Amino acid sequence: MNNHAIVIALPNNVVFASELANKLNLNLGSLEIRKFPDDESYVKINSDVNNKIVILVDTLDRPNDKLLPLLFVVQTLKKLGVKAICLVAPYLPYMRQDKQFKTGEALTSAMFAEIISKNIDCLITIDPHLHRIKNLEDIYSVPKIITLHAIKPIAEWILQSGISPFIIGPDKESDQWVREIAKLTNSPFITINKTRLDDKKVTMEIPEITDPKRTPLLIDDIISTGISMKTAINALKNRNLKSPICIAIHAIFSDNAYNELIKAGAEKIVTCNTIIHPSNAIDVIPLIAHEIQNQILKN
Ligand code: R5P
Repeated sequence: MNNHAIVIALPNNVVFASELANKLNLNLGSLEIRKFPDDESYVKINSDVNNKIVILVDTLDRPNDKLLPLLFVVQTLKKLGVKAICLVAPYLPYMRQDKQFKTGEALTSAMFAEIISKNIDCLITIDPHLHRIKNLEDIYSVPKIITLHAIKPIAEWILQSGISPFIIGPDKESDQWVREIAKLTNSPFITINKTRLDDKKVTMEIPEITDPKRTPLLIDDIISTGISMKTAINALKNRNLKSPICIAIHAIFSDNAYNELIKAGAEKIVTCNTIIHPSNAIDVIPLIAHEIQNQILKN
């Protein structure tokens, strides 16, 4: 057991964190967080963290309720004399408001990044939504940033599934990962031209599917409202293809999005375990463990 570092899980991250700790041969520390009757947070760290690297696991979907407890934990860890805090946030939020579209709008991507950056020494995340912001380093000023990609685990899932896919990216931004996944699985691919009209409305132009006998496999980074996947499913329906399989890295699924996609005709929905959801089937923990081992624990 390596005693120079310890893994600590924020609420709902214990399964992920304990598997990560196992892979890294580290102890899982004990953290108590509960709410007082008035909804304020009580935080207590029960493990010895003095002079240790703390790998703090907190995936940050639904971030507003998570941010304050996270900051209390970080501040407490610092008072207890930790060597460094490495935040593992498999899903990093507030990446989509990456531009001020109208006067008076908050540029929340940069604001959130500033709050987090002030408090940690290292950030590890999986496929943050990089669109107009090209690198996390452009808005995060954390001394060490490790941005990982779920491309290989997704490709491995496809290869093991035995399906013969036609890979479809639901927008031009998805080109970066569908192209790589298509290469790794030796599959044809296209990307759709998507125009977003508002939060819950998009239009799509789908190019020709050159091999209609293959299973359409829609791959996106995030399913939030599900409108991007749903619009793609509906557009594919008119082409006499097999029912599509949907793969997403981050399973946000706001409201009833998951059921809506099944109702729309998705054969199956598969996600990575960056956010806990019943659709999780692709494990990103080995990827994270590997990088922590090589880039954090070796030094
Ligand atoms: C958009 O730019 C992203 O890559 C996703 O396509 C999008 O965030 C999915 O959101 P929704 O499920 O609400 O369409």
